[in-house]
Order: sequence, then structure tokens, then C-alpha cells
Amino acid sequence: MFHINENYQKMPGSYLFADIGRKVREFSAANPDKEVIRLGIGDVTLPLAPAVVKEMSQAAEDMGTPEGFKGYPDYEGYEFLRRAIKENDFDPRGVEVGLDEIFVNDGAKSDSADLGEIFSKDCKVAVCDPVYPVYVNSHALAGRAGDYLPEKGEWSNLIYMPCTEANGFVPDLPGETPDLIYLCYPNNPTGGAITREALQRWVDYALKNKACILYDAAYEAYITDPSLPHTIYECEGAKECAIELRSFSKNAGFTGVRLGYSVVPKELKCGDVSLNTLWMKHQEFTFNGVSYPVQRAGAAVYSPEGKDQTAAQVAYYLKNAKAIKEGLEAAGYTVYGAENSPYAWLKVPAGMTSWQFFDKLLTEAAVVGTPGSGFGPHGEGFFRLTGFGTYKNTLAAIERIQKM
Ligand SMILES: Cc1ncc(COP(=O)(O)O)c(C=O)c1O
Repeated sequence: MFHINENYQKMPGSYLFADIGRKVREFSAANPDKEVIRLGIGDVTLPLAPAVVKEMSQAAEDMGTPEGFKGYPDYEGYEFLRRAIKENDFDPRGVEVGLDEIFVNDGAKSDSADLGEIFSKDCKVAVCDPVYPVYVNSHALAGRAGDYLPEKGEWSNLIYMPCTEANGFVPDLPGETPDLIYLCYPNNPTGGAITREALQRWVDYALKNKACILYDAAYEAYITDPSLPHTIYECEGAKECAIELRSFSKNAGFTGVRLGYSVVPKELKCGDVSLNTLWMKHQEFTFNGVSYPVQRAGAAVYSPEGKDQTAAQVAYYLKNAKAIKEGLEAAGYTVYGAENSPYAWLKVPAGMTSWQFFDKLLTEAAVVGTPGSGFGPHGEGFFRLTGFGTYKNTLAAIERIQKM
């Protein structure tokens, strides 16, 4: 008789975005004349850049010729893409990353969950609170998180590191020593950024405690402050203690195309065993790579036209985020983020929960955002709005909120 992975049964019943979707559907059914503006889910809205489309189409055409046909791709990604990544994302920052340390994937979500598989079952995991939920869910399913405690909104065996107004949404070093530490900057959901000095403190802490940092830099393209680090490997010693995750979703609109990569350095070791070797084995055993047209499309992001066109997309979303921040501040709200991030993290009015504010915004302004409590207990009292809508809708949403 087979048995199921009981950890699936421990997962809390409802999914944040499913709850939001249900509420919006109910509202729209009851108010068919009201146009709902969605600034909730973190999906992009602009079409793919022309340089990307051209290259993806050309690659598809090539696949239809005897000379251009490709079968299974390399597990770690085609060299042309890994080289473009190295030469554009790392070399200009003075960071030495080897081609064999870059692993192309179908987006950061998969690897942020799957990387857990190369670590022992009994590793203690630390996550920011609030947090991008995938890190928590993957460890819960793997049995590392313990039991879900509904009254606290926490898992019994995770270390939660509060990210608050007081610490500028960068967690303090934890009291209990973790083995795995998830950091994400610029941050989803708070929109916060991390300075090089603060990130170096985390690297030093990880080295001292023989912990591994999983650094999610999916929003790196949104950094506008030139003093901020774009990669954790700008910190001294990071190659001995950190894996970095990158995505093409938010810098180039690949949410529907699916492409990302992870950097697993050779120097990152447990005893004599390099995690790079383990991750290569993981990819060989369980992954068949990313399609050729998608990898060609990814390489086009680094072409001169691709760089200009995707930078313009990022600037567009940043303009939306800035408009949200300034518009809501003018209406008396306290708003964080939205400067090095597409996310605005606003404080809900005193005395309200983040779900109550969600309902108020939906019913009074027909605007959809994301309640902060959905990202963890310390998200309570906050609300996430994204710059990923159209500029027109963003301005309309701001005006409606100002009138509330
Ligand atoms: C922090 C963070 N990491 C990873 C991802 C997933 O990105 P991808 O589309 O590359 O899977 C997201 C998506 O919203 C995210 O917010």
C-alpha cells in the first residue's frame, strides 16, 4: 500500500492569491459596472521586448531546419547564455563567476524550492518575516518546517526573522543559529533594499556559523541606488557561503516564457563536498533543461537592443511604483519600498488589519492589492501594491484611493 507525503496535509488550507481571487470575483459579480484595477499579484503586464521576440522567433525557425534543429539541451544551460550571463551580470561588477557555476533553469521559483534537496533533512531554516512564501512551503513539504501553528501563522521548526519598520526591513542576526538562511533583496514583499555593509554582515555571519545563504536577487534590475549591491558575490567571502538565484521574469517580462538561473559556487563546500557538484548531479538526475528558443530569447536580453528595451520596461514599472508611493504619501499614508523595487509596502490605517484594508480598498475604490499578513505574521498592518500595472490604471487607482 502506498502512503502519501503527509507534509502536504499539514499545509494551511487556503492560498493567499486564491482567497484574493475569490473575493474579487464575488465583488465583480455583485458590482458588474465597477472596473476593478489589480495591483495585487506580482505579474508583469508589458509585452515582450521586440529584440527578445525576434530572437525567439528566429530560434524557432532554426529548429525547423536540419542544421538548426536541437534536441535535449545541456542540463546546465547552453554555453552562449551562460557566457552572456557571466559577461553582463558579473564581470562588469568585478565578480568572478565561472561558466560552470551558472545553472540555467525555468525560473527562480523552481530552484528556490528544489535547492533544498541538496541539504540534509535536519537543516534548520531561517526565513524573513514577511517572506516570499515558496521558501517556506518547500521546506514544509520536505518536512523541515515542523507543524503549522494556525494561531501564530508560523511553522514550529522554522526560524522567523522579523523585517520591520524598526530594522528597515532587513532582519537582525537571529538568536538561534540557522543552517540555511533565505535572503531576498530587493525584497518581495516589502520593497526594501539591503546595503553592501548589511549584506556583508550576513555573509560574515554565515561564514562564522557555517551556514548557507540562499540569496534571491530576482528583483536586482530594479536597483536604482548605485551604492547597493546587485549580487551577493560583491561581498567578501560570499562564494564560500552563498547560492544566488536570478530570474528573467521581472527584468525582461519572462513570467510566461520561463527562464532564470542559479549560481552555485565551487568554493561553497560542506567538508570536502562542493555544493556545485551536488547541484550538477541534481540537474542531471531530475531536470532536462530549458528549451532552445527560450535560451536564445534570454541571450537577446543582453544584446544592445535587448538591454535598452528591457531597461525601458523596468523604468516603466519603477515609474508606476514611484507614482504609487508619492500619490499615497500625499494622501497621508506611510509608504515604504517603491524606490529600488516595483513593490510599494504601505502601512494600513491604525486599527485595521491588512485584510480589513483589502476589503475597504476593494469595496470603496475597486482596487486590489495584497494583504501583508499573507506573507507572514510581521506582514500584518501592511499592504503590498505593485508597479506592474499599466501607468494609466496605476494613476486611476491612486486617484481612487486618494478619494477614499
Ligand atoms: C522573490 C521572488 N523570487 C522568485 C520569484 C519567481 O520568479 P520566476 O518567475 O523566475 O519563477 C518571484 C516571483 O514573483 C519572487 O517574487
